[in-house]
Amino acid sequence: MNILYFFGKFHPLLVHLPIGILLFSVFLWFLALLKKTFSLVPVIRLGLGASAVSSLFSVATGFLLRANESYPDEIINPHMFMGIALTFLLFFIFKISKRLYKYPAGRKILSFLFILSAIFLIITGHFGGMLTHGASFLVPPPIQEWFGTKETESFVLNENTTVYEAVQYVFNSKCLSCHGPVRQRGGLRMDDYAQLIKGGKHGEVVLAGNPQESEILQRILLPLNDEYHMPPRERPQLTDEEIKLMLWWIEDGLKPDENIYKSTLPAELITLIETMARPEEEIINENYLPDYQVPFADASIIKEFEELNVVVVPLSVNQPWLSVSLVVTRQEDIHSVLEKLVSLKDQLIELKIQDRILKTEDLMYIGKLESLRRLYLTNCTLNAETSLQHISHLSALRYLNLSHNQLEKDNILPFSGHSALKNLYLYNNNINAEGAKALEKLLPETKILATGFDVPTFTSDTTELTP
Ligand code: HEC
Repeated sequence: MNILYFFGKFHPLLVHLPIGILLFSVFLWFLALLKKTFSLVPVIRLGLGASAVSSLFSVATGFLLRANESYPDEIINPHMFMGIALTFLLFFIFKISKRLYKYPAGRKILSFLFILSAIFLIITGHFGGMLTHGASFLVPPPIQEWFGTKETESFVLNENTTVYEAVQYVFNSKCLSCHGPVRQRGGLRMDDYAQLIKGGKHGEVVLAGNPQESEILQRILLPLNDEYHMPPRERPQLTDEEIKLMLWWIEDGLKPDENIYKSTLPAELITLIETMARPEEEIINENYLPDYQVPFADASIIKEFEELNVVVVPLSVNQPWLSVSLVVTRQEDIHSVLEKLVSLKDQLIELKIQDRILKTEDLMYIGKLESLRRLYLTNCTLNAETSLQHISHLSALRYLNLSHNQLEKDNILPFSGHSALKNLYLYNNNINAEGAKALEKLLPETKILATGFDVPTFTSDTTELTP
């Protein structure tokens, strides 16, 4: 890091000096007007002078910072312009205030200029805030929700889902805060395909077919405390599966439109993608959150779960609904965690378990989670012996993903006639197209995805599966 850049980094700290001093001077000025005592004027002018000089330093360090980091022009330009204008204005007021305050008309002019400087200050500060805290800085949470920040948006799972959508989703959640529309650290913007391919200030960051030479992957794989490691140490890291997905996609040639079910993507990565995505039906209806009310879960209970590597996330701001993921929970804790989850049964509407061994006893505990609307039990060694009876009575269940197990058609029979269930994923089980068709008859309300393609449009593939 060069020394000028080092000074530049003081900019965000330094700017508080003119802000504080100026606001105090403005306050004193109006106090003086009110009390009609102008003995305070020298103090006010001292404040003005000090804020003018500290603004000058702020502008200078701002330039240094700008030279070393990249910010979007539409935010940095107005911030810079207003900061410079404010500095000039402060020197100007300092200069003319020496005499002007003695005349009634002069006092009016000064009052106007003081207010103007405060307005300049607010505008400068607002754009500065957008640079440091993101565009949604100072927007109250409900409004943030309406705008739906891109960082948290999910993607649709259906028969057209592509590998790239999942890759982009990982970038959105782990990289966009520094490489998105608001900030482009290292000159790199990753919120759409073209920008990503274009690369950062040192050129391309992904090379088709060559993950080893791709800067993105190199950085992700650097040791956590390496200064070039991405995402930086204090930020949420990529999981092993996410890294594998990244690697696979780069190796496969950075294709923007490869279908997950038609690709050679390994089963575990398909599971990963199915778990990350939102089922189509729910995106369209957006009604997966219950419309009744329950109390919020106890924070201390949630904390206990977190200590067991259970990821508990609220599904909506200001609402009690929770999603729980056991994707990083240790196998030996799974059983006891499921047993304890009953304490969250009113709030828990989504549960994700993946790549763990589940036994019928475990399903008995899951069966007690009556509010569940979405359940993922992917790659969990469920087989012909597993009794799904314990979960088939979960009447709120709208989405069930049982992909990548060894289930047979008969395992699914307990769900017959389930009227809430809208999506049932059975990809990669021992269920052929015929079996899937039979199930569709028993579950007329449910869209069943058994082999990667929509079952009703399946006719041409049937031959392949019946020897
Ligand atoms: C907290 C902010 C932050 C997050 C989050 C972040 N980065 Fe970065 N990234 C930076 C900064 C700062 C730089 C420039 C300094 C450097 O080169 O290390 C950078 C530079 C890079 C570069 C080099 C660009 C070039 O051409 O020089 C790559 C590649 C990169 N990041 C990838 C990623 C990926 C992939 C993620 C998400 C998995 C990510 N970053 C998340 C802050 C971040």
